[in-house]
Amino acid sequence: MDPLTRQISQEIERRRTFAIISHPDAGKTTLTEKILLFGGAVREAGAVRSQRAARHATSDWLEIERQRGISVSSSVMHAEYEGTRINILDTPGHRDFSEDTYRTLLAADSVVMLIDAAKGVEPQTRRLFEVCRMRGLPIFTFINKMDRAGLDPLELLSEIEDVLGIEAIPVNWAVGSGREFRGVYDRMGKKLLLFRGGNHGASELEETEIVGDVADPDVRSGMGPEAEITAEALELLDGAGTEFDLARVRAGKQTPVFFGSALTNYGVRPFLESFLTMAPCPGAQLAAEGPVDPVETPFSAFVFKIQANMDPDHRDRVAFVRICSGRYVQGLVAKHQRTGKPIRLAKSTLLMGRDREGVTEAFPGDVIGLFDPGMLRIGDTISEGGEVSFVDFPAFAPEHFMRIELGLVTKRKALAKGLEQLTQEGAVQLFQEQDASSPTIVGAVGPLQFDVLKHRMAAEYKVELRLSPLTFKVARWPQAGFDDDMVRHSQMTKLVYDRDGRAVVLAQSQAFLDSLVARHPELELADTPDPKLFQRTQNAA
Ligand code: G4P
Repeated sequence: MDPLTRQISQEIERRRTFAIISHPDAGKTTLTEKILLFGGAVREAGAVRSQRAARHATSDWLEIERQRGISVSSSVMHAEYEGTRINILDTPGHRDFSEDTYRTLLAADSVVMLIDAAKGVEPQTRRLFEVCRMRGLPIFTFINKMDRAGLDPLELLSEIEDVLGIEAIPVNWAVGSGREFRGVYDRMGKKLLLFRGGNHGASELEETEIVGDVADPDVRSGMGPEAEITAEALELLDGAGTEFDLARVRAGKQTPVFFGSALTNYGVRPFLESFLTMAPCPGAQLAAEGPVDPVETPFSAFVFKIQANMDPDHRDRVAFVRICSGRYVQGLVAKHQRTGKPIRLAKSTLLMGRDREGVTEAFPGDVIGLFDPGMLRIGDTISEGGEVSFVDFPAFAPEHFMRIELGLVTKRKALAKGLEQLTQEGAVQLFQEQDASSPTIVGAVGPLQFDVLKHRMAAEYKVELRLSPLTFKVARWPQAGFDDDMVRHSQMTKLVYDRDGRAVVLAQSQAFLDSLVARHPELELADTPDPKLFQRTQNAA
């Protein structure tokens, strides 16, 4: 093996690139912060959440996020933990931004599903879980907030299995809960871990380890008053028969479950250590040409996110790319697959909220931000060999529509520029009406996107955007059997064109479209412009 190949394969081995999915408020920011803390990336707990009340993480930088205290944009954080390079893909918590989250999941090799012990499986978690399943991503479950009164752990397990349809295998088991939550029993390592102190970084966490099976007198006495009930639950689990199977975990059919409290730090380190050994390192990504070997194939990457004006002091546009194979070195010349043009990757950055550091070298699994004058689009592939094109990204059908009040806009040029940019970022989609000279309808997956659009148009392009709501709720792209006449005279629908000139039918209800299809059986309507396989690797499922 030549030295470069050896280096690439060693760097891949030690990388774990994952996203954390959860319902808002389950503790994602807190857990992220604790993981980064273990990795030494943040100096003290609470640094990620610099203002307690505003609740925004290092990754939250957009003004609107600060104002509302929500995380709407996803970026990437990284840390080193005992030789492992951790890349955490941050996903926005708000449901209106699920499209951004879906795209981020395309760049992940595994997922941590965070569940609030008191709430169980919540709707947002369920939706994101479905995407992970479609991608065949391995999913690790962390049941958080065990320091508070919560649902019965056995109940939580069956809820995960019933609602999500995945085998849930507890790697460790909570000893006590609420104020009595004192530790976890590691079922695989056969040891009890007891915790004291720790509270949100305010005091040092003390960890005591007692090795032995549940019958061991020292383990029993360590469990204290919880001994009987814990031992009973553990016996029940052992008797249940489903064995931990790493291959099933890797295939996304089984989820290892961990208990803990991100706030007090209880159970975070044991979770992190097991997770890092069980989670896969970057594997072969699926391209149109077949799976792309991360070691053998020269540098290749795809764009999964574009963000403009991240730094108000520097007008710039950053394309986030996930490296899939080979080695990135500063100055590398690659081919831009969509246009066939060469692209010199001269300036790239690793982002940590507002802080930036230059990147001179990066490997598969890493996400780097490329400064881009406007050539790259979401879903684009860049590669050194030029023979790779990664599977297209699904665009999601908007469910909310607004008309731009053009008459009230004085700065038409700035408006067009701003809209073009924000559409490229994938925040909103623009539609042009028949006979119109420019797009006048914006569509979004969630209504909050319109606020972000208005805010950013004002802050970044100095345009006061006025929008008036439309009553359409569905957008569908005709694939076959379509004729303009089918919708021309209906008040319930509208024919518009997307930015690539494809016809799109907007409708007030799905029921109307169903009746249209019933009347025209040859008509095929898709909920994405280009319905393609949404799959990570060939052997994942
Ligand atoms: P999110 O990113 O998933 O939306 O959740 P975040 O970490 O912001 O946590 C939401 C709330 O839950 C926060 O409380 C946080 O302190 C709390 N929390 C997170 N993990 C735990 C845990 O393990 N146990 C307990 N008891 N609470 C937890 P908050 O009051 O809304 O905010 P703050 O005042 O603490 O910042």
